[in-house]
Amino acid sequence: MLAYAVLAIVHYTFFLSTHAHSAAEPRVVDSDGICSQIENAISSASDVYYFGELSYFKDIGHWASSSSQLSLCSVEPGTAQDVGIILGILGTTQTPFAVKGGGHTANPGFSSTNGVQISMSRFSEVTYDAQSQTVVIGTGITWDDVYAALAPHNVNVVGGRVSGVGVAGFTLGGGYSWLSNQYGMTVDTVTAFELVKPDGAVVTVTESSDADLFFALRGGMNNFGIVTRFTLKTFPQGQVWGGLITYVAHHVDDVTKAAATFSATVTDPKASIITTYNFVLGSIGISQLLFYDGPTVPDGIFDDFLAIPHFTKNVKTRDFLDLVKTPPSDITIGQRGIFHTVPLLEITPAILEAVVNETMFWGSRLSLLSGNFISYQVEPFLPGVLSHASSPSAYPPSRSVMYLPFNVYYAWTFSFSDSKFHDTIRASVQHLTNVAVAEGQSGVETASPYPNYAMYDTPVTRIYGENLGRLQSVKARVDPSNIMRLTGGFKV
Ligand SMILES: Cc1cc2nc3c(=O)[nH]c(=O)nc-3n(C[C@H](O)[C@H](O)[C@H](O)COP(=O)(O)OP(=O)(O)OC[C@H]3O[C@@H](n4cnc5c(N)ncnc54)[C@H](O)[C@@H]3O)c2cc1C
Ligand SMILES: *[C@@H]1O[C@H](CO)[C@@H](O)[C@H](O)[C@H]1NC(C)=O
Repeated sequence: MLAYAVLAIVHYTFFLSTHAHSAAEPRVVDSDGICSQIENAISSASDVYYFGELSYFKDIGHWASSSSQLSLCSVEPGTAQDVGIILGILGTTQTPFAVKGGGHTANPGFSSTNGVQISMSRFSEVTYDAQSQTVVIGTGITWDDVYAALAPHNVNVVGGRVSGVGVAGFTLGGGYSWLSNQYGMTVDTVTAFELVKPDGAVVTVTESSDADLFFALRGGMNNFGIVTRFTLKTFPQGQVWGGLITYVAHHVDDVTKAAATFSATVTDPKASIITTYNFVLGSIGISQLLFYDGPTVPDGIFDDFLAIPHFTKNVKTRDFLDLVKTPPSDITIGQRGIFHTVPLLEITPAILEAVVNETMFWGSRLSLLSGNFISYQVEPFLPGVLSHASSPSAYPPSRSVMYLPFNVYYAWTFSFSDSKFHDTIRASVQHLTNVAVAEGQSGVETASPYPNYAMYDTPVTRIYGENLGRLQSVKARVDPSNIMRLTGGFKV
């Protein structure tokens, strides 16, 4: 934990410098009075905020500072009807806007804008229905909030694995969870969306009400309007076992072997891991997350990891939310950041060896350019994850083969280094793709990358594949004047 403590102090200093930098940017002025138009049209359940107000800064804030922009104003709608009124004004005036749920995208401009920032924070309900075993969740909250509200009922949903991630973007892009091996992706557990269509109409979208739109919303992100509520299936949840172990450079090879063995042999759907290779403070290390959906773990599953000498170790039987809060998921908060991904078919020793090399090769070079956190997250899942959908979804375009949501994450300080980091993450992803192809992993170069990890310039033809045509026809019907084109994201 020493490394993390030092890092936290270093980052605080960096945060102050990047914050000062952004405050020096020219302030945007709403010369057309769009924000006052919105202010006059919305009900008393909603509010508009301006530069200088605390709520404005909260509304434009993101997990990665590079995902934030200064907007004309921010608006916190309190009703779905007001969301419709706001979309109407933005459409008529052709004003760029952004919709933010938990603000955890690493892609610049996906939930930020220099137009009008919409923050969904007032959509904060969590309403559990024991009868139907479902829960209605507002799109302005984090998974932490949902887990906390469901815990007293001993049920859970298929959501985020670490603290602070928003339910909205996560669910609209797919959703890989500790529980995915058992129940599928989050999109596979959605039974209904409350959607404000671009024309302002508030509709409930289910498989039976509108099968095409239901298909499109499960992975199609913000292309079809603004979602105000999800209805998700719930599942029984008791105590779980797991947490975080960190290892220093000396033990990287042993942990790599353990991860490869786990990936190749463990078929118990209650077990799951994330092996994160990171380069911090001049050296490679591993943050190893272990999860088992039960108070005790059958012998053999995690024994290899537990036998390796650790740097820090915090694993035990605990509540689900406590496990989610164990890793320091906001360690790089306030820094610039980018995610990218390779849709791997398998976690093989050759891939892991290449990942170790990438971590050290780019870690040592990028740290000279204010790169504070260079990391590669290996996330094995069972192919059975794809077997839980009631019908096809926008993502993944094919369910016949499981490609894994492997994540690359870089964090750095200075905005003038953005293009260097973006170019490097592209090169690193290309290199790992080549390694996978060279060892015979078929389809990796064309498979659909996970939209919640894919970098902003990934072509939608690649993400949605065969599904793109169907998505485009849903889009033409639901958003004929292309109002959602005024906001960032992967556009179908
Ligand atoms: C620390 C961390 C941990 C993560 N862990 C996981 C993980 O375990 N599994 C996983 O699958 N992914 C994970 N992710 C990736 C995560 O799925 C994405 O970052 C996702 O975008 C987060 O959703 P959000 O609501 O916080 O994001 P936001 O930045 O608020 O939104 C992301 C996108 O969704 C759109 N959007 C937001 N709200 C709405 C709405 N109401 N209607 C329509 N569109 C909307 C935005 O416009 C934007 O394009 C993680 C990310 C981070 C940073
Ligand atoms: C290590 O990674 C770099 C950058 O991708 C690459 O050029 C180099 O060939 C790799 N080395 C080995 C031994 O794989």
